[in-house]
Amino acid sequence: MAQTTPIAVLISGRGSNFVALAEAIGRGEIPARIVLVVSNEPDAAGLAKARRMGLATAAVPHRDFAGRREHETAVLAALDEAGAEWVCLAGYMRLLSERFVHRYERRMLNIHPSLLPAFPGLDVQRRTLEHGVKVSGCTVHLVDAGLDSGPIVVQRSVPVLDSDDADALAARILEQEHRAYPEALRRLLTQDWRLDGRRVVFT
Ligand code: GAR
Repeated sequence: MAQTTPIAVLISGRGSNFVALAEAIGRGEIPARIVLVVSNEPDAAGLAKARRMGLATAAVPHRDFAGRREHETAVLAALDEAGAEWVCLAGYMRLLSERFVHRYERRMLNIHPSLLPAFPGLDVQRRTLEHGVKVSGCTVHLVDAGLDSGPIVVQRSVPVLDSDDADALAARILEQEHRAYPEALRRLLTQDWRLDGRRVVFT
């Protein structure tokens, strides 16, 4: 078998982006294997999906720990034990400390449902509609210590329609997320690339 990169996926909820990654890996499109799916929410639907897929899972509830540092120490220990070399954040609704980010520098990705740097943070679709932008989309980016601020790997755009509410817009964007995330991971793992300032340049 060709060499595959061990990756962990961190989720907090539904896990549809995790499933999109797992399916793309299953189709042989990404030379990776998922060695662990971690959730800070023990009841996350995505964890149950991962179990059904026969993947290793870990629930690490942040509420069980005294603080962010202790929680992250437990997550990092689980990642180390699983041998994860890359981390994909997929709807993981926790801010990560610099220590965590540093450990996976240039080897950790996140997906966000807007065309960054527009609309970082939470409640994205409501703010997108309120602002009145006509084009939105999703962004896969390398994670740095800021909020949704790391170097951009892949973006896909969608129109914002006059008839949209937040749910309709979120659904249109999610369809593109499921393409963008596998594409970003595939490109980073299979192509030569470098960082030129903030720019991810494929060579
Ligand atoms: C996705 O829309 C993802 O972009 C967003 O949460 C959703 C998770 O869905 N992430 C963020 O807003 C992070 N800032 P999923 O659990 O079905 O993948």
